[in-house]
Amino acid sequence: MSKYDGTLQLRGEVTPLMKLLLQRRSCRRYAEGSAGEAQIEALSAAIRRFQERVGFAAPRLAIVEGERMREVARAAMSGVIGKINPWLAFTHARHLLLCGALCPPDPAGRARAIKQAAMTMQVAVLAATELGLATCWMAGINHERVEGAFPLEGGAELIAISPLGLPPEKRGLSWDNLVFHMTSKRRKPLAELVRAERWEER
Ligand SMILES: Cc1cc2nc3c(=O)[nH]c(=O)nc-3n(C[C@H](O)[C@H](O)[C@H](O)COP(=O)(O)O)c2cc1C
Repeated sequence: MSKYDGTLQLRGEVTPLMKLLLQRRSCRRYAEGSAGEAQIEALSAAIRRFQERVGFAAPRLAIVEGERMREVARAAMSGVIGKINPWLAFTHARHLLLCGALCPPDPAGRARAIKQAAMTMQVAVLAATELGLATCWMAGINHERVEGAFPLEGGAELIAISPLGLPPEKRGLSWDNLVFHMTSKRRKPLAELVRAERWEER
């Protein structure tokens, strides 16, 4: 877990959300074992609650496991684009979170739908962190093949996926650790990324 970087406060307070934002890191190497049923249920509920609360109609998120999960992972890694994430073939994560958007045909509507889906996915990723699970946004995947392997509700367009698994006990020598040092550790301070306001005040 990273320490609070001292750059952001909301009315003098480092909020639980800020701590979560600082704590959460992309994970490409998961510990053996599976997320528990209660964790997956709590995550699904958090996604539902967020979507209801903000009134987003476009996002379509789904969680797959077992043979379905392996099929989706194979589809994600197929083709040239899928070669970006070879580690997915060997992952110990036992669930995949899929993020789709129900897109209207007009470009502005499509852009809005994708933003809604991305926000919902990020909330899911943070909720997963809070529940003790590790995640990694993945868009370097074969979207069409995944849509074929696991059609999302209402014909939603696939935006990204993420493994849902147990965090590693320690970071050893690995691709994950290399990326962590190259990118995660060089994050901008939260104050440059986060705008603190209340939804009601908008
Ligand atoms: C939209 C999006 C797509 C991403 N796609 C991939 C991907 O295909 N493979 C991967 O290993 N990481 C992917 N990432 C994770 C980034 O590499 C990661 O966010 C970056 O390394 C910073 O690390 P951090 O999330 O720990 O801060 C993606 C992140 C975002 C936001």
